[in-house]
Amino acid sequence: MADARPFHWEYDAPAVAPERFLVTGGSPLEGTIRVSGAKNAALKMLAAATLTGERCRFTNVPEIEDVRAMTETLSDLGVVVDHPAPNTYEVSAGDVDWLFVPLEAAAKMRASFMLLGPLLSRFGEVVISNPGGDRIGRRPVDLHVDAMRALGATIDYRYGYYYAKSNGRLRGSEIRFPIVSVMGTENAMLAATLADGQTVIRPAAQEPEVDDLIAFLQKMGADVERTYPDTIEVNGKRRLRGAEHSVMPDRIEAGTFAIAAGVTGGHVILEGTDCDTMNALVEVMGNAGLSVSCGPGRMEVDARGLGPGGIKPVDVETGPYPALATDIQPPTTVLLTQANGDSKVHEAIFEDRLEWTGELAKMGARIDLNGPQRAIIHGPSKLHAATVEISDLRAGASLILAALAAKGTSSIGGAHHVRRGYENIERKFLDLGARIERVQEGGSKPA
Ligand code: UD1
Repeated sequence: MADARPFHWEYDAPAVAPERFLVTGGSPLEGTIRVSGAKNAALKMLAAATLTGERCRFTNVPEIEDVRAMTETLSDLGVVVDHPAPNTYEVSAGDVDWLFVPLEAAAKMRASFMLLGPLLSRFGEVVISNPGGDRIGRRPVDLHVDAMRALGATIDYRYGYYYAKSNGRLRGSEIRFPIVSVMGTENAMLAATLADGQTVIRPAAQEPEVDDLIAFLQKMGADVERTYPDTIEVNGKRRLRGAEHSVMPDRIEAGTFAIAAGVTGGHVILEGTDCDTMNALVEVMGNAGLSVSCGPGRMEVDARGLGPGGIKPVDVETGPYPALATDIQPPTTVLLTQANGDSKVHEAIFEDRLEWTGELAKMGARIDLNGPQRAIIHGPSKLHAATVEISDLRAGASLILAALAAKGTSSIGGAHHVRRGYENIERKFLDLGARIERVQEGGSKPA
């Protein structure tokens, strides 16, 4: 590995330009919008492109901050990234000269850890920052590290960095995960595509984004297949080739706008997606009394005429796919504040994913937490405008939904969290008739 570049142990988080959303609620959202490409598929494909020296081309990539951060991280490694048109990226990893993923990258985005598997497998070594730990919240990566060790890698951890090495090629192996992990499955799968021999991953995550990644890897010439719903088999190849792929639609973005129709008593048509990857949410919305219709490349949610309290309470529990996605739990929780009675929410994946409901309560929601992962939502609540702060991506979109259902103008701080994962969210809400703008702290419009 070249060692001419500066190596920072210490890292001061860059100041993020503070921006707020100003949202005036109280009117139903109506109209049609197009769903963007899936963040959680695109980021992994960009990482997977480092498995070959040939050019890979991606279309339908969402224009979001996380994609920008991932392409910057790739460029720092010596990967050539072109952006010839909106939503299109070309990646050529022919001249990677720096096998170091710094804390600056990890602090911006947990998905930077997706570079561990491909870089280790293709180049035999990588030094990569831990995205978990105390610095940016408790989300471990032990499953990723154990999977690489199962493939024959040696990994040492020093001062917040993993030093990973393989002695020659990684060796195909049986990888048994103690719990289902989306990125753990994907990292293991990417590493195994260039390993020597067969790898069997079990239980493998069943999220549709994993299958979209498999489809891209197959186009690269990888021998990888989901042989059972919870099993992925990989036969390692010596080389992979460049490929082209259109990223699947973002089911979390689609779900967020579908719920926006529900909480505002509106009518929203989503194009460029279908309901197939969203059955658990469609069931919850149906049980809540919303009218949901599905067709090829289309989803329609109609909540007109339900009236105050017309939404029915529903008990929900998140889980690995095909259960209700944890990323759609916060918007669903907002919907349940409008239900005519009490709903229970069990967040079974992440232990801190209900903390943001404290902000929702400032808007008039009545929520009792029963431990960190269970809540009772007492509906219906008349939501009112408030000044609130966003702590993460999905909570941010959900506070916008709550503000759209509330009377008056809410001021929502921490807008950059939402821009990490939703393409042009204000434009899309404006197209549905919402009153929303993004302003810099102090009131001026951002450039
Ligand atoms: C991915 C998604 C995220 C989604 C989550 C669950 C991306 C970029 N992110 O995150 O949006 O909310 O799946 O659907 O695709 N765990 C460990 N050790 C590990 C890894 C995970 O204990 O090494 C735990 C986590 O703390 C969590 C559970 O496993 O409790 C599942 O997390 P995981 O599926 O790995 O989430 P991510 O892949 O990080």
